[in-house]
Amino acid sequence: MSTPHNTANPGDFAKTVLMPGDPLRAQFIAETFLTDARLVNNVRGIHGYTGTYRGTPVSVMASGMGIPSIGIYSYELYHFYGVENILRIGSAGAMQEHIRVRDLVFGMGACTNSAFASQYGLHGTFAPTASWELLSTAVGIAGERGLRFHVGNLLSSDSFYTDDGDTANAAWRKMGVLAIEMEAAGLYMTAAREGKRALALCTVSDHLLTGEATTPEERQTTFTEMMEVALETAVRMDHGKENM
Ligand code: HPA
Repeated sequence: MSTPHNTANPGDFAKTVLMPGDPLRAQFIAETFLTDARLVNNVRGIHGYTGTYRGTPVSVMASGMGIPSIGIYSYELYHFYGVENILRIGSAGAMQEHIRVRDLVFGMGACTNSAFASQYGLHGTFAPTASWELLSTAVGIAGERGLRFHVGNLLSSDSFYTDDGDTANAAWRKMGVLAIEMEAAGLYMTAAREGKRALALCTVSDHLLTGEATTPEERQTTFTEMMEVALETAVRMDHGKENM
């Protein structure tokens, strides 16, 4: 079996998949952190790998950028490949003064200006949320490691270059939204519809209020810390299941 975007065979993906946006990040994670990583998909160069991390099977595959892209890849992983947990590991722009570049932001919820939810025919507004199991596990790990982190709403925006960006962002900021990125809401809605688990954790790469941005070296360090939180979450989810 394969899909238009994934040529992996059934069973090729682990129960937990880490999803960075960038395919080269997926390759870096597989080569740096996974044991016996093998390439299971490379349609459009999207780089899907499966290996083990401290004995737990883990996959990593890129999502591409934006809700339509992560919507496709996450749907196929949940629906056709039996994946249970997807952890988006990305970058985000801070929208609040108390958040600093390099901090970690967990998306407890994900607001969006996207029409993705309209496909579900709901008579109201759906609130896309993270899986509590993934969120509480990952936040616990970040705390143990002494990382600076925040938990709250992300804004998953359909545009990176927004014509009225300052005005639009100011309105979301007044609602307490922590940071802006482009995928979490699509992932959370897909997980909800499929009855699966999802979490987006993002390192703050730039600050919308101060204009401050991380250097490539800082991005690498903070990305590594975030990746280790995500990998450790995968391990604990695996152990938790054994005890169920
Ligand atoms: N907008 C959207 N996505 C982002 C940003 C941003 O400013 N920074 C990091 N990801």
